[in-house]
Amino acid sequence: MKLVDRSIVITGAASGIGRALALRFARERPRGLVLADLPAQRAALEALAADLSAGDGAGRAAVATLAVPGDVGIESDVQALVAAADARFGHVDVFCSNAGLIRDGSEFTPDADWTLSWQVHVMAHVYAARAVVPGMRARGEGYLLNTASAAGLLTSLPSATYAVTKHAAVAFGEWLSIQHGAAGVRVSVLCPQAVDTPMIQQRAGAAAAANDGVITPAALADCVVDGMAAETFLILPHPQVETYFRRKGEDYDRWLGGMRRFAAKLDSLPDPDRR
Ligand SMILES: NC(=O)c1ccc[n+]([C@@H]2O[C@H](COP(=O)([O-])OP(=O)(O)OC[C@H]3O[C@@H](n4cnc5c(N)ncnc54)[C@H](O)[C@@H]3O)[C@@H](O)[C@H]2O)c1
Repeated sequence: MKLVDRSIVITGAASGIGRALALRFARERPRGLVLADLPAQRAALEALAADLSAGDGAGRAAVATLAVPGDVGIESDVQALVAAADARFGHVDVFCSNAGLIRDGSEFTPDADWTLSWQVHVMAHVYAARAVVPGMRARGEGYLLNTASAAGLLTSLPSATYAVTKHAAVAFGEWLSIQHGAAGVRVSVLCPQAVDTPMIQQRAGAAAAANDGVITPAALADCVVDGMAAETFLILPHPQVETYFRRKGEDYDRWLGGMRRFAAKLDSLPDPDRR
């Protein structure tokens, strides 16, 4: 799908990848952008919306942009987000479920942390699909871009909650694509490794994900525009991920053995370089 004249919702838009997507999409001359993030991020969200509404006078034209604070883990907030987009731009052509978080976690992580990751990484995608897929099916077109992670295809060494819920995000994206693809609804899952955003800048334990290099959010956003134009299900800004994913599928036990050795190697590093 080309993004010219489309109405696009982006969650987690106040920071990192969501912010970069908004800035990159604005260059495609969309009809409008609707940016969502937590109420605590209202100032950053509104500043970005004002910047996009004004344009930069150098390749990024002014784009009508709304800021709609809300929590994507609460269904009524997602419904209100879509209602605001519908009211301003008629309907939603593209919904980018991008908000996310990561905390270290294991089987001993408290239930509250499991629930938070589940709500933000999985149920937020479910709530978005409930809100926009019926209209997309009726119009015979629409696009869901769900940010998962390479952790959703492979794993995350420091965080079981992240690995498990990102796998679920990929699984839900697959299911949506199978069920709604014939009706014109396109689905992509974005599965990067390390991207230079506050999410990894604030974590000493990001070395494993950064093993193949840290890319800029702007470079990732270019890959997303290309991936959406090609309508590929997997959008992999780190091409190595495709090789790892194939190896996992070809010989699961060999892949697990390699991951155990990698985890042991990282555990032998001094803090804060480990993981
Ligand atoms: N940065 C990376 O290396 C990396 C790698 C793979 C996947 N990802 C994924 O990319 C997405 C964006 O992450 P990022 O790196 O830009 O991180 P980030 O921390 O810079 O941005 C995430 C944004 O999501 C928002 N958010 C969190 N919970 C929310 C909620 N309940 N409702 C609304 N907004 C909420 C945050 O306020 C924040 O602005 C996440 O889904 C993340 O898991 C990031």
